[in-house]
Amino acid sequence: MFKIVRREEMAEGTVILNEIEAPLIAQKAKPGQFVILKANEEGERIPLTMADTDVEKGTITIIYMVVGKSTAIFKDLAVGDAYQDVIGPLGKATHIEKVGKVVCVGGGTGVAVLHPITRALKEAGNDVTCIIGASNKDLLILEKEMDAASHDLRVCTDDGSYGHHGFVTEVMQAVIEAGDVKLVVGIGPVPMMKALSGITQKYDVPTMVSLNPIMVDGTGMCGGCRVSVGGETKFACVDGPEFDGHKVDYDELMLRLQAYLEEERRCHEEYCTIRDAQYGPPRNGIFWPGVAFSPFCDPRHSACYACGLKSAQAFRLRLTGYAGHVLRTEIYHP
Ligand code: FAD
Ligand code: FES
Ligand code: MG
Repeated sequence: MFKIVRREEMAEGTVILNEIEAPLIAQKAKPGQFVILKANEEGERIPLTMADTDVEKGTITIIYMVVGKSTAIFKDLAVGDAYQDVIGPLGKATHIEKVGKVVCVGGGTGVAVLHPITRALKEAGNDVTCIIGASNKDLLILEKEMDAASHDLRVCTDDGSYGHHGFVTEVMQAVIEAGDVKLVVGIGPVPMMKALSGITQKYDVPTMVSLNPIMVDGTGMCGGCRVSVGGETKFACVDGPEFDGHKVDYDELMLRLQAYLEEERRCHEEYCTIRDAQYGPPRNGIFWPGVAFSPFCDPRHSACYACGLKSAQAFRLRLTGYAGHVLRTEIYHP
């Protein structure tokens, strides 16, 4: 078991930090590598990059965005709880060398993945400019840490609530035009990495991106993480996750990431419903013994209050049995 020793919430509770006891992994981990975690016996295997390691304390730190069922389960773990399995370090470590001026660009939780890489590039003697972005000020993560890990930090928000009003790619282009950039490292949502690589290709600046395809075993056996790079098939878990940004087939990656959207949505919704049945308060001002209410049944909660998931099934009658509970969702609404 791998005990959680520190837990923090960021970006209005949509991003969670867990510091986990894993001394053997902490000893071996290098920037750019990831772990695969399972919360419990039935749990899904979830790949997450190590945002930090502490060899003395024997811990690793993961920072993840709550997007679906498994990350919602992870979010429910408290300090003192434990992950059943954590395997790693997996994947190739980032190739770190002194090249001169480097620009590290991070979007969303990509900033967490970028953090140890940025720090290592600075420690290797590079002049590191870091550009991080989020949709708004409240969703920005690790600003202080990225400031310490780089020489020059620029911040962007899509809505202009903080820093540069606009995308990280605009600021990156201005930094490249100022001259002498020898390497760009870009980590974030796939459309961001695609746009960023298109720009750096025009300026002929070598670019490294970290890919996040769906992974299962993480050891090169299942083929789930197949990506096309320079016309060749690669397995991101063993050949990556970092690749030459100018050679990646981003459109294929985006399509493959959406392969199970409907199943993932259904699983997430069911988990939130069951959790609410077990722990949530009675709704509609009435307490019905043995009857559990879902956030989806209440007109005041057409989205899950725990995770923000919008439910297409709101206001529809649904009966589900679970562990002695009857979930009568939407039963009180036409
Ligand atoms: P679901 O609702 O099941 O899925 C939501 C979306 O996440 C899917 O549509 C799909 O695009 C993706 N996804 C689903 N299952 C997997 C899977 N087994 N492997 C990869 N992607 C999947 N996220 C972070 O927030 N922080 C990180 O540091 C981080 N590091 C990653 C490192 C690697 C090498 C990879 C491959 C992914 C990383 N991710 C990271 C993404 C993270 O693994 C997914 O967000 C997570 O698996 C979603 O699981 P879920 O059940 O909560 O969501
Ligand atoms: Fe199975 Fe990469 S996750 S081959
Ligand atoms: Mg999942």
